[in-house]
Amino acid sequence: ARLVVLISGSGSNLQALLEAAKDPAYGAEVVAVGADRDGIAGLEIAAEAGIPTFVDSVKAYPTRDDWDAALTEHVAAYRPDLVISAGFLKLVGKQFLDAFGDRYVNTHNALLPSFPGIHGPRDALAYGVKLAGATLFFVDAGVDTGPIIAQVSVPVLDDDTEETLTERIKVAERAQLVDCVGRLVRDGWTIKNRKVRIP
Ligand code: GRF
Repeated sequence: ARLVVLISGSGSNLQALLEAAKDPAYGAEVVAVGADRDGIAGLEIAAEAGIPTFVDSVKAYPTRDDWDAALTEHVAAYRPDLVISAGFLKLVGKQFLDAFGDRYVNTHNALLPSFPGIHGPRDALAYGVKLAGATLFFVDAGVDTGPIIAQVSVPVLDDDTEETLTERIKVAERAQLVDCVGRLVRDGWTIKNRKVRIP
């Protein structure tokens, strides 16, 4: 299966996918990496691996809709079976969802529906929960609201800071992403009694 990965940051999830995809038995390969900003480590990781990259920054377009159209077109050019938001910090628009809504997944660093948004670990710590974790889900038009594919939990320790909890979540999150994307493209996945197949 062909994967396009969208990123905004350090690209550790991307790196984990690239490692896994070296094994042909994994069943998926990263065919392109897109970002919403330049100068991020994730783009270096892609370039070093010889993967084509593109950058669509919102401010390079007159309107948010124009940005959404450009992103949709650039992703479509790589004919992905699955699009993965791996730390991509932009909400896509209607055109993108019309094109990829049934095959666009995101990994979020909290146990949804708790703590959506960009500060999952911080919000979990502030609330005082004893379990935190990560959620892989199909993206819909809401913020972190789509159908859940898988979740993994990690303990919150008494002496955790935002940094230590974030790092513990990321380790579990990466393993989940790699494992679940592989199983999704090889075997399909059952969500709410419905079997989802990619492609
Ligand atoms: C992930 O923990 C994701 O949940 C959050 O940002 C992180 C992405 O990290 N939104 P990376 O860029 O893959 O290292």
